[in-house]
Amino acid sequence: MVGPLFIAGNWKMNLDKEGAIELTDALTNGQGPVKGVDVAVFPPSLWLTLVGDLIRSHDIKLGGQDCHEELEGAHTGDISAKMLKDVGCDYVIVGHSERRTDHFETSETIKKKVLMSIKCNLCPIVCIGETWDERDKGAAISAVSAQLKESIPDELGSEQFIVAYEPVWAIGSGRIPTLNDIEEMHASIKETLLSINHKADKVRILYGGSVKPANAAEIFKVENVGGALVGGASLSAADFGEIISIAGAKN
Ligand code: 13P
Repeated sequence: MVGPLFIAGNWKMNLDKEGAIELTDALTNGQGPVKGVDVAVFPPSLWLTLVGDLIRSHDIKLGGQDCHEELEGAHTGDISAKMLKDVGCDYVIVGHSERRTDHFETSETIKKKVLMSIKCNLCPIVCIGETWDERDKGAAISAVSAQLKESIPDELGSEQFIVAYEPVWAIGSGRIPTLNDIEEMHASIKETLLSINHKADKVRILYGGSVKPANAAEIFKVENVGGALVGGASLSAADFGEIISIAGAKN
């Protein structure tokens, strides 16, 4: 295994200001980090400063949900990696399937975002995952491998980025792949990474898609699973806290 398990909470476009404060307060008052687990939250960008201030003296890191591939300029509505760094982020999610679908982001653009985030001292969490159609056709491994090769720049070190395997059909659906399928995919991702770049032998590979307290323990036992990117369950301090505790118990 590669370092401590990493548990990331992607809040997506959820929670008003009061809800963000309430959730953060709960996470910093007993329901959050445990020893030996790396924890990060990814609030909507408008709440980054607010949440960043509340978690400052706690063992919770901050991340953005996306960034632009350029450093600055005329890109109305966008946020740069440098701005995320300025407000205290250490991480940024890039290439989430919701960005690929809603905003037509290509792997080529995502590769540029990876480079820009590293340039701005952020660790990108690069999301990849097959659609149900691809899995159904037996093309899940090849689809994810192609996406990975197109999204990851050559010659990055293991500590510079994280990969999140998120099957599109598992996101928000309550369905997850079989543990064998997760194991097979994570092994394939590792192999593909090594084929791109021998320095990427220790990259953390997270699993994401309907991770809940009820399935976290079995997912964390799967070989090469380095943690979880949690959506819906990260909006409940009790559920997110329980997933963190389960990760802690694995150590
Ligand atoms: P859910 O945990 O709600 O399925 O979302 C997963 C996800 O997309 C995290 O980025």
